[in-house]
Amino acid sequence: MEFSDLIHKRKMTRSFLADPVPVATLNKVLDSSRRVPSAGNTQGFDFVVLEGSETSLYWDVTLPPGRREKFRWQGLLRAPVLVTIWADPDAYVRRYSQPDKTKSGLGDGVEAWATPYWVVDGGFAAMTMQLAAINEGLGVLFFGMFDFAPELADVLGVPSSRTPIGTIALGLPDEADQQAGRSISIGRRPLEGNITSVVHRGHW
Ligand SMILES: Cc1cc2nc3c(=O)[nH]c(=O)nc-3n(C[C@H](O)[C@H](O)[C@H](O)COP(=O)(O)O)c2cc1C
Repeated sequence: MEFSDLIHKRKMTRSFLADPVPVATLNKVLDSSRRVPSAGNTQGFDFVVLEGSETSLYWDVTLPPGRREKFRWQGLLRAPVLVTIWADPDAYVRRYSQPDKTKSGLGDGVEAWATPYWVVDGGFAAMTMQLAAINEGLGVLFFGMFDFAPELADVLGVPSSRTPIGTIALGLPDEADQQAGRSISIGRRPLEGNITSVVHRGHW
């Protein structure tokens, strides 16, 4: 896919076909995602990948029976792959305690960080995973773990020190059942030229 198409046609998919994602395709997507830049080259993110029937581990925690039937996005439950992304704050503190980084003071602890780079890097990995998947003809939805994160970490064996970044559902889009989320009505902010613009040249 052309880079410009990838950016301009990208949108979230909330209904999937159950068809499995070929192993080679999924591996390519995961491999692309681990190649993102990271602060101090720490690479402090991990992916827990659930395929096929394993995805019920996730839904059993976040949508137990009773809530599941009322869930608006039933086609999301068919997604053949769920990738949960977890960041490792301690890895960044350790990395920034090393001799080439001690001057930064960021090895003192997570409180020293004005910007938590583990969240930045995890976000980079998440976005790259989504673009790589779309480039392979798949649909994706990035969504939060919300306050289910501790229970998900427990069920998936994720160390409790990890910070949840989010979950990516991947699979072929069910083109017959695509609805945008409620937030889409907000529209995109303009690039520049008025008070709602994203770009501020020279001064806010
Ligand atoms: C950090 C983040 C969290 C999101 N959480 C959810 C979510 O919990 N449920 C959902 O349906 N969409 C979620 N989305 C998708 C957004 O609603 C969507 O990206 C936005 O409305 C713009 O639509 P588009 O991505 O299709 O252009 C999330 C997106 C991001 C970046």
